[in-house]
Amino acid sequence: SLAQIGVTGLAVMGRNLARNFARNGFTVAVHNRSPQKMTSLIEEHGDEGDFIGCESLEDFVAALERPRKVVIMVQAGKATDAVIDSLVPLLDQGDIIVDAGNAHFPDTRRREAALKEKGLHFVGSGVSGGEEGALLGPSIMPGGPAESYETLGPILEKISAKVDGVPCCTHVGPDGAGHFVKMVHNGIEYADMQLIGEAYQLLRDGLDLSPSEIGDIFADWNKGDLESFLIEITAEVLKQVDSRTGKPLVDVIVDQAGQKGTGRWTVQSALDLGVPVTGIAEATFARAISSQLAQREAARDVLSASTSEWHIHNREGFIEDVRLALYASKVVAYAQGFDQIQAASEEYGWNVDRGAMARIWRGGCIIRARFLNRITEAYERDGELASLLVDPYFANEVSAGVGAWRRVVSMAALTGVPTPAFSSSLAYYDALRSDRLPAALIQGQRDFFGAHTYKRVDAEGTFHTLWSGDRSEVEA
Ligand code: 6PG
Repeated sequence: SLAQIGVTGLAVMGRNLARNFARNGFTVAVHNRSPQKMTSLIEEHGDEGDFIGCESLEDFVAALERPRKVVIMVQAGKATDAVIDSLVPLLDQGDIIVDAGNAHFPDTRRREAALKEKGLHFVGSGVSGGEEGALLGPSIMPGGPAESYETLGPILEKISAKVDGVPCCTHVGPDGAGHFVKMVHNGIEYADMQLIGEAYQLLRDGLDLSPSEIGDIFADWNKGDLESFLIEITAEVLKQVDSRTGKPLVDVIVDQAGQKGTGRWTVQSALDLGVPVTGIAEATFARAISSQLAQREAARDVLSASTSEWHIHNREGFIEDVRLALYASKVVAYAQGFDQIQAASEEYGWNVDRGAMARIWRGGCIIRARFLNRITEAYERDGELASLLVDPYFANEVSAGVGAWRRVVSMAALTGVPTPAFSSSLAYYDALRSDRLPAALIQGQRDFFGAHTYKRVDAEGTFHTLWSGDRSEVEA
């Protein structure tokens, strides 16, 4: 019999996705450029379900029922284009290619448009949850033509994570919408991780705690509003003891954070769209700073500290302050990410349902968290919500923590602990709630040196002051 779905590209993610399909009762055709990966998959896991191993791409395509559904899971970029190019001549009208890798959404838009001309459906799909998610149930963010979702959707929903019985998979929107949303997911992931890192550093420096004691605090936080995969694994990482030295593992890991690019893409896109994603940007730059060895080396002994000593009288109070600051900053990062999704949705005509995105992020993905339920509810209350921060629930939650947030950020500044994400998130919060911003002065400066004009608070029209003349105002 024929396969309902095929997977080509059997490195760890592709392999686990293929197994997930098979374990869920689908017959899966599997193919890899070098066939050993295909044969070893079947040798090791053939008993998990119905696999059809295919040595050639021709055999692979021939093994699929129509409309054919081919999932490609290869390196983003050239490798993806190469696989698409070799598949296209073998496929027929109405067949569906799913790119489940972390492609950059402009590439997905380009590929979708090119394949549409050939009568093929191209679905750029975000898949989150790492290796384990791919096997046991990821969060899946498929874009591409809505029509393709009719046949593809049920299969993807079946293998996705479920929360309260609801699949963590939905049609995100046309062309690049799926990969865009996955990209923002990763940007939020960067922000979440950085915020957790800042909280850890504050607890460590402020209370002189060991990593494992801080791990206990995170484990405790994981029972409340902050409950999430990233908080949970943070506790585990912090408690891990290095087998070679007996030290906390975190103390023997080189403090330079890597990145494969999705965070950077999120920030680049945000700049293009004019959306301030300051939390994500600071998180991305914090990774960059950590890897700027020459600058760090040169600065270490040169830049003076002039810091204050820590004086914490109320230990539990400080821990709670850090928790509240983390929560508030996290809400800001999500608010900004959802703004970016909305802006792109308008720019590209995607019509993305933000509440549905929060719903499919509740399980399976790296940023899965209890509080995503609250985000879904916020968008259900008001689909046009101007900012997540102004939703009554979140406005209330963040307001309750704002005093703590200010204490933590000011203490970090005084004691010299870098908290770029905590601090910039608070600055964003204050900017949003300000009656007047110094942007008025910036407009004055722009008008002064470039006659860039300004608007008045008390009159219609556009104005310019004759700065180098008699400084009277003219209508521009
Ligand atoms: C996921 C992850 C996954 C990933 C990224 C992040 O959702 O499963 O986001 O896509 O781990 O590759 O990578 P970097 O931190 O290396 O940029």
